[in-house]
Amino acid sequence: MRNRVFVSCPLPGSAVARLEREHDVVIGEGPRGVRGDAFARGAATFDAIVSLVTDPIDASLLERAGRVRVVANFAVGYDNIDLAACAARGVTVTNTPGVLTEATADLAFGLLLASARRIAEGDRLVRRGAFDGWRPSFLVGTPVHGATLGVVGLGRIGQAMARRARGFGMRVVYAGRTRAAPEIEKALGAVHVPLDELFERADFVSLHCPLTPETRGLVSRARLGRMKAGAVLVNTARGACVDEAALAEALVAGPLGAAGLDVFEDEPRVNQSLLALENVVMTPHVGSADRSAREAMAATAIDSVLAVLAGQRPAHPVGG
Ligand code: DGY
Repeated sequence: MRNRVFVSCPLPGSAVARLEREHDVVIGEGPRGVRGDAFARGAATFDAIVSLVTDPIDASLLERAGRVRVVANFAVGYDNIDLAACAARGVTVTNTPGVLTEATADLAFGLLLASARRIAEGDRLVRRGAFDGWRPSFLVGTPVHGATLGVVGLGRIGQAMARRARGFGMRVVYAGRTRAAPEIEKALGAVHVPLDELFERADFVSLHCPLTPETRGLVSRARLGRMKAGAVLVNTARGACVDEAALAEALVAGPLGAAGLDVFEDEPRVNQSLLALENVVMTPHVGSADRSAREAMAATAIDSVLAVLAGQRPAHPVGG
């Protein structure tokens, strides 16, 4: 039987074509996703939704879309989805773990290097014609080799970040809700420490935790205050894990030396005080944006929809 599936926007690769062979697909137009007209027009008729991190899936949406049986989020994070509201209506929620691990860690390590070695600042300087010759003290940055990386959340992406750090001769400490298995700690040379100690010991802190009530504002004014002089914060997780106003202050007045940010508290808006700072490198939430990761994310989300609509258990259910 053909079902009706709403896909929030065109997706890379051929997965949506595969879905269209079995079901009737409505693709959202523009960036508005479930807030747009295409969703509003068909809401009561959809059996499945492929959502983006920018699509709020809450009780009021599910009320309007009463037939929906599965919400397949095109992301590993799912803080845009009210899991309790979905569970109350028997709606299965899925995500796309695994396929974006290396891409996200690549971007996180890129931000670490760019912040430490002032790459974006140097690029801006060269472009405005301000490179007036080599000097020993010109654009001197923070050493990476031999420094300590603090990984907050040693899940898949945190581990991939730690592997990269080891390749660059860094020491790795980590904190998280759960302690990693001894063989993982050994392979990564990663030492488990309490969260506050991580902020005190690390030269670089990189966030790889989901956004939950516990991690909202985790990088608080108090924790920023514990960081070493010149330390660097990297965030490819969720903007709301960081108190951005406090971050901007710590980048101006210390102790922070720099930050590399791919995510922001109120996307797509970016805090004006961060925009004004030379010692922040910013990218527009592109952690998973390499071609193969994005195609694999689409394939994973579509596989989940096909499984649930066929009465099967999807490979990556979240929330029980
Ligand atoms: C995720 O997967 O959670 C990212 O934020 C989007 O790739």
